Amino acid sequence: METTGSFEVLAHAKVNWMLRILGKRPDGFHELETIFQSISLHDRLRFHPREPLSLACDDATIPTDDSNLVMRAARAMIDRFGAPECRIELEKRIPAGGGLGGGSSDAAATLRALSPLCSAPPSHDDLSRVALELGSDVPFFLAEGTAYATGRGERLVALQSQAGVPLVLLLPDERVMTPEAYRLLRTRRDEGRLPEGEAVGLERCALAARESLLDDVTMLVNDLEAPVFEKLPRLAELLESLRATGPAWARMSGSGSTIVGAFRGRDERDRALEKLSDEVEAIAAETASRS
Ligand code: C5P
Repeated sequence: METTGSFEVLAHAKVNWMLRILGKRPDGFHELETIFQSISLHDRLRFHPREPLSLACDDATIPTDDSNLVMRAARAMIDRFGAPECRIELEKRIPAGGGLGGGSSDAAATLRALSPLCSAPPSHDDLSRVALELGSDVPFFLAEGTAYATGRGERLVALQSQAGVPLVLLLPDERVMTPEAYRLLRTRRDEGRLPEGEAVGLERCALAARESLLDDVTMLVNDLEAPVFEKLPRLAELLESLRATGPAWARMSGSGSTIVGAFRGRDERDRALEKLSDEVEAIAAETASRS
């Protein structure tokens, strides 16, 4: 990466192969177990160092003030590690509120981009700490690829890469705010309508990943699906439509609303995409490797 002049970085989206919500913690967050997977869909950020700090975005619905995680990430790098101020342009392609981690990925891309420009460069642990302050998913996006995660999502173990798997992403208009998805699950568990989540364990995940996670799809479940589907039944219908096209695996991603399906081959994926496009905005993507 150039250390003078303008430069750009890509911020990839993620899906969750699996998401188990294990229980509420004293700090209000939930203990979770997940397998993150970065995918080819990405935002693009352009940095113009040594200009006053500002953010512009080609999507007018995205706030560009201090509430944006990119601005918060840049401020943290400037204040704590002596990064230069910079003008930032964000080309947004990852839909917000879709469970694809777009805002978190943009924030991690900002941390990665500014890190080499700092007068007091942060260590990897420093960066991970700042990342977690910005959001539970942000530490994953510092490295991307395929990773098993516990805690809030910050205790990460890289798994064998699952890159190159053809995907279909269904992007319904419905949007799910993450805190609400957790609240819906909590209520149903407290009422005894849904069971508490059980961990799968690193060993089984790492073993399956050695060949392909698609060989052990019974463990690839998402605990947030049931409560979110109860509130937004159309998402359950879309998952059924996707399943009817014969993917190797299909689930809601993260807290939704994106529904993702993985296919054994591109031709099968393309045929599914064509069928589903009448019903909902559907796009093709592939799983990606570490950045
Ligand atoms: O950390 P992040 O900003 O992504 O979290 C958004 C919200 O999702 C939290 O405020 C919390 O309600 C919920 N959450 C949780 N446990 C996690 C991650 C997120 O309860 N491990």
